[in-house]
Order: sequence, then C-alpha cells, then structure tokens
Amino acid sequence: MTNPLFQKDIISIADLSRSELELIVTTAQSIKKKPRPTLLSGKVIASCFFEASTRTRLSFETAVYRLGGSVIGFDSGGNTSLAQKGETLADSVNVIGSYSDAFVMRHPQDGAARLASIHANVPVINGGDGANQHPTQTLLDLFSIYETQGTLEGLKIAMVGDLKYGRTVHSLTQALALFGCEFFFVAPEALQMPAYLCEELDSAGVSYQFSNELEAVLPQLDVLYMTRVQKERFDPTEYQHMKSQFVLSATMLHDVKPNFRILHPLPRVDEITTDVDATPYAYYFQQAENGVYARQALLALVLTEDL
Ligand code: CP
Repeated sequence: MTNPLFQKDIISIADLSRSELELIVTTAQSIKKKPRPTLLSGKVIASCFFEASTRTRLSFETAVYRLGGSVIGFDSGGNTSLAQKGETLADSVNVIGSYSDAFVMRHPQDGAARLASIHANVPVINGGDGANQHPTQTLLDLFSIYETQGTLEGLKIAMVGDLKYGRTVHSLTQALALFGCEFFFVAPEALQMPAYLCEELDSAGVSYQFSNELEAVLPQLDVLYMTRVQKERFDPTEYQHMKSQFVLSATMLHDVKPNFRILHPLPRVDEITTDVDATPYAYYFQQAENGVYARQALLALVLTEDL
C-alpha cells in the first residue's frame, strides 16, 4: 500500500494529519533502532540553504548519506545565479528540481517554500521560511517528546522566549494541539504567540495560558521548550532588553516532575545557563541528534512508495 507521504511536499506542519505525524515518529523510532543504509540508494537530494543553518542542513545531509543517497546543493545562498545574477527563486527551483529527487530548502522569506513547491517537479521540504514555519524541526521535536515521555498525548508544555518570530514554536504548537496538550506561553508581551495561532487554538478548544513567571510554571510541566530571542530580527537596544527576561538556570529546577525534560531547537545564546546541561532534565543535545532520525524517516517516506 502506498504510504500517505509518498511524493508529498512538506511545507507547513498544518499540511500533515495526526496519523501522518504519528507515522513519521514511529518510522524515526524504527530507523533509530535499525539503520537502513540502502533505502535511498540512487536518489539525489538537493540541499539548498538560502539562509544560514548548522543543524537542519547537516542533519538532513547526514540523513541522506546514512540512507545511501547523495546530496547536491549550497549553503547560505552561496555563489548561485539567484544570489549573484538576479535569477528568480522560481527559475532556480525549476532547474534544481530537474537534477534531484527531492528539494530541501531554507529561505529568509515567509512563504518561499510554498512558492518553490509550485515550481518544482519533485517534493519540496521546508527547512525553515522566515518567521513562518519549520516543520521538520517539529518532527524531531515530536520524536524527542515521544522518546522522553512515551506519548504525545495530553502533556503540559511551556513555550518560552521569542514566540512571535520563533517559527519552531509556531509549528510545534500546531502539531501538539492535535494531541490534546495544554500550553503555557511564557514571553515578553511584545514577543507573545501571534494572534492567528491563539485563534486556531481557541477554535480547536485547546487550553492555553500566558505567563511571565517562568519559575512558577515549572512544577506543572512535562516539557519545557526554550527558544532564543532572535538577534537578527531586532535593533541592538531592543534585543538587549528582550533577551535577558527569561533565563533558565539549574537552581530553578528544584521542584520539577521526574519526567520533566528541557528542549531547545538550538542555537542557544544565554537563555539556558550551562549548569543546566549536567542535570537529568536537559535533552537538547539528544534532541539535535534526533534530527537525523526524524529527517531520515521523512525522506524515506517521501521517496519510498511502500515503506
Ligand atoms: N534548530 C535549527 O533550525 O538550527 P539551525 O538554524 O542550525 O538549522
């Protein structure tokens, strides 16, 4: 039977159903237990990053190589015709799609991945578009939550930091809303969760509350999802003010539940002090490693009809 993700574009987490998300998580779990070194044998994946990335690009490329495929592409826009000669994104994608079996991309503009999917003749996978969506980060976040909690169902989750511009929290909130989770949004007022996402939660009857007291919510939580304030989206004075408001340190973790885990999409700046790293609650480095398994699962499902 054809798997439902075969040849599908992965642009926004909202394009995926609950059962498709579960399929990706269970496939990641299976590949983590039993590697599949020939699954993408003969496949070429274009990895085109028009904006900087460490984890997303390198974990995608590792995922391809560990499944037996090959990678073409560039990093940070590179010395491409689009960057140097004024070629449109549509034309670039049209051509690169003809060289590859799937097109993985990151771009600084909201909506760029959706535009690319219109012009590519192969599946497009969004590795982050502006402040909009980062669906494959959400897949590895869901896998990490499942690995640490044994379920995605009915968890209490706090999202902390830059909830306005942070594309990872937008995608993750939409995904976890499908599993009956309850949310605490901890952010400076100017960086709170966008109204359109709160309206989506209201329509779905999902429970959430706003807070500016990080330490007070910790004992209630199963998962704390920390994010950095994104320096590149502020002027320097505003950034200094925003970034120091919510900092997690080991001394704040005195009353947390045994299953409590801290996630962060990384990179970290100083919103989690390094003394947290040695606590049993820190999971952000394992989370980054899980990016390889989640992206292997996604690529395998998108490119293999009867996986
Ligand atoms: N988490 C994440 O997207 O990291 P990179 O910017 O390094 O890809």
